[in-house]
Amino acid sequence: MLSTLATVLLLAPAVLSHGIIMNPPSRATGPGQTTACGQAIVSAIKSDNTSYVEQLTKLASTDSKFSAAACNLYLCKGLQYADNSANVQTWKAGDVVPVKIWLRIPHEGIANVSIVSTKQNKVVGDFLKVWTKGYAPGKSEADVPIEQREFSVTVPSGLETTCAMAGDCVLQWWWLGTAAKQTYESCVDFKIAASGASQGLEFKA
Ligand SMILES: *[C@@H]1O[C@H](CO)[C@@H](O)[C@H](O)[C@H]1NC(C)=O
Ligand SMILES: *[C@@H]1O[C@H](CO)[C@@H](O)[C@H](O)[C@H]1NC(C)=O
Repeated sequence: MLSTLATVLLLAPAVLSHGIIMNPPSRATGPGQTTACGQAIVSAIKSDNTSYVEQLTKLASTDSKFSAAACNLYLCKGLQYADNSANVQTWKAGDVVPVKIWLRIPHEGIANVSIVSTKQNKVVGDFLKVWTKGYAPGKSEADVPIEQREFSVTVPSGLETTCAMAGDCVLQWWWLGTAAKQTYESCVDFKIAASGASQGLEFKA
């Protein structure tokens, strides 16, 4: 009994995890990630695509197939554009994009949404959403305020060149459970069409 309890407690941090963008379609794993990150990370993501980065860095340290140059776990959890080229969204400046997060297990902390240039590995433009405290409180998804799980972001202007090509930019949701010290990232591939070129999503959420 005691040892069973101990096992459950030991396993809990790896098993209870935690969040991903459900909509628009977010980056998933695939053979490109196996090449870049190794099989251990891909298997972990396959068994739980809401898992946290610190679990994956631990796996990386024991997998000789892990390539730090090709697999940046702090950018989209090392998920690769090559596995997701069929899921590229086309937006234009001013489009209002509804985002839906699955917060499988909450951990109170901070979060934000931004556009990241994958080549430069840095945020470009202003943060689109920032929660400096109180993000994802409670014990189950129902405890988390709906506006933290379902919100919309407006595609900024000024990134038409930086984000013209699929794969060059992602919309990244980033959440840190401050007490749990667990980081979550989920990314949407998109490109920005020159103004007037697409019929964007014009409704307000
Ligand atoms: C993540 O897993 C959920 C549940 O298994 C699934 O519905 C969803 O499509 C997956 N998303 C990605 C990006 O892999
Ligand atoms: C964005 O979120 C990440 C993870 O929660 C955090 O490390 C970073 O400081 C945040 N940045 C801003 C500007 O909120």
